[in-house]
Amino acid sequence: MTERLEKLEKEISAELKGAAGKQDVLGIKTKYLGRKGEFASLIKDLANLPPPDRRQAGEAINRVKKKAEQEIAKLLEGFQDEEKKQRLTREKLDVTLPGRRERLGRTHPITQVLDEVIDISTGLGFEIAEGPEVELDYYNFEALNIPKDHPARDMQDTFYIAPDVCLRTHTSPVQIRVMEKHPPPVRIIAPGTVYRRDSDLTHTPMFHQVEGFMVDEGINFGHLKGVLTHFLKRLFGEDRDIRFRPSFFPFTEPSAEVDIQCVICRGSGCRVCKESGWLEILGCGMIHPEVFRFVNYDAEKFTGFAFGLGIERIAMLKFGIDDIRLFFENDVRFLEQF
Ligand code: PHE
Repeated sequence: MTERLEKLEKEISAELKGAAGKQDVLGIKTKYLGRKGEFASLIKDLANLPPPDRRQAGEAINRVKKKAEQEIAKLLEGFQDEEKKQRLTREKLDVTLPGRRERLGRTHPITQVLDEVIDISTGLGFEIAEGPEVELDYYNFEALNIPKDHPARDMQDTFYIAPDVCLRTHTSPVQIRVMEKHPPPVRIIAPGTVYRRDSDLTHTPMFHQVEGFMVDEGINFGHLKGVLTHFLKRLFGEDRDIRFRPSFFPFTEPSAEVDIQCVICRGSGCRVCKESGWLEILGCGMIHPEVFRFVNYDAEKFTGFAFGLGIERIAMLKFGIDDIRLFFENDVRFLEQF
């Protein structure tokens, strides 16, 4: 046993001397001190000695084992210090460099315009209402006097989730949802996201609208013109030309579209206004009595107007942007400018 121990002691010293790095030392550690290592088997063999010799032999083993443990620990520490030193010379950090500034985000141009539109409308006493983007065919079309086979549906083809459930093509269904719940008078503004199967320079499949409507006794087209003129002058400034043009919507009668002078070309004609000098920004009209019938409003007693405007259009005009798709490409170099 003594002989075996002496041999072991020498062996370990020799191996440790030859160790070139942390990995070597760890290997030696498992070989001798590990659960199945040399010391473990020595201790197991103690049982073969006559009982009186066991104690002494055990002490001898422990002494050598402890010595080995200490040497290994010291070596490991040395290698670790060495590693740290190397890393410090390799990775140079200049603590005197100025810090990097966090880039602050800003409100998206579409949100800016939405906020402004809401601000002007609430200033006129309109209250905000919202409706779902995934809408029932009934609210998006049917109750707005657009029956299943109506040709007006062609202009608002959309994405269907089920035969009677679609992504809303306009914010007008909010009219129905609000009027179903509230008797007149109502004065509502309804901002939100809408969807259509449309994609070109001035159309994206997803865009934003704001719906406005007002119902009370004695509301006439003059109120509609007054509110919208005030509204657009606040948005674009007093000097911008606006025109009301007769139009058609199944849920308003009479109906009109409002155009604003093209800001890109100032009316001389360009690709954005399709050479007309004007850009359509909203549809409006007096709410159709048929719509009132769907929500149980007394069409003999009450009248109202409604309008729906496209936020992207307004943002394009306000900021002089000639391609609607830029809003949704999320290029910060573009967005930062507004
Ligand atoms: N909902 C119509 C559209 O998206 C706009 C509109 C709203 C027209 C309200 C009249 C009244 O085209």
